[in-house]
Amino acid sequence: MVTKQMMINGAAETFGIVGNPVHHSLSPTMHNAAFAALGMNGVYIPLPVSDLQKGVEGLKALGFRGVSVTIPHKKDIMQYVDVLDPVAARIGAVNTLVIGNKEDAADRFVYGYNTDWVGANRALMEKIELKGSRVLVLGAGGSARAIGYGLLEAGAKIMLSNRTVAKGRDLARQLGCDFCPLDELENVNADVLVNTTSVGMTPADDKSPVDQKILSKFSVVMDIVYAPLVTRLLREATASGCEVIDGLSMLLYQGVAQFELWTGRDAPVEVMQNVLRERIK
Ligand code: ATR
Repeated sequence: MVTKQMMINGAAETFGIVGNPVHHSLSPTMHNAAFAALGMNGVYIPLPVSDLQKGVEGLKALGFRGVSVTIPHKKDIMQYVDVLDPVAARIGAVNTLVIGNKEDAADRFVYGYNTDWVGANRALMEKIELKGSRVLVLGAGGSARAIGYGLLEAGAKIMLSNRTVAKGRDLARQLGCDFCPLDELENVNADVLVNTTSVGMTPADDKSPVDQKILSKFSVVMDIVYAPLVTRLLREATASGCEVIDGLSMLLYQGVAQFELWTGRDAPVEVMQNVLRERIK
């Protein structure tokens, strides 16, 4: 058996995750498993960073090829990016840096992308054609923003709902979609429901963001919460006859998109999925 350790030598390409804190991240497990499965000379490490400017300079100086970016840096990192992907610019958040050629210091440009929306779309597209689908998005935080803009990219028709009405209306206005208060959702008709709120996450796993009685009208229900993997929302959606997508899918596919941006190779999706499932168990 070829082990990951055998593949890493002095010519290894280095990647990592920039955030604060990062000790809980599942990304090192996922990406290192992918490098090992493809026999690649690559390694991915946690990079707890508080001073972002110095952090990005350090990444360039040390020849890192790319990083994931997580809380609390997804917005602030944008000012240190040389070339910003247009969708990431619209979302207002970057979760992936690709850093230019290691051999050539002059070409060490920093490219910023957002793969959260790519991950959500790919997870949804396994179950439904997004173009022309009607999608109800619950929440108005950073995840709703990324997923909302991503759904528009895919040609879906979206509607937003959120506990804090002013915040929900504000994001809906930016997305150019309608807003519906949480207590009026029985009047909404859509094909897909996406929960981007933290409702239902451990330890409050007895909670669901919506009443079960509205679920039967959706064909597909996706939850971005992955602890627990089967949330109350997904349990009730299954019981109501919906197809469900758990929070692991978006996590997986945003990582798959990162891996493909960094390496230009097809990611070993099944390997990455298996290690994530193992870790979450
Ligand atoms: P993220 O970046 O993951 O989207 P966030 O920006 O903190 O996280 O957003 C969390 C979302 O979950 C918000 O839409 C929030 O609703 P409010 O705008 O009303 O705060 C929603 N949320 C969190 N806890 C909630 C709860 N108990 N009930 C309903 N919505 C909740």
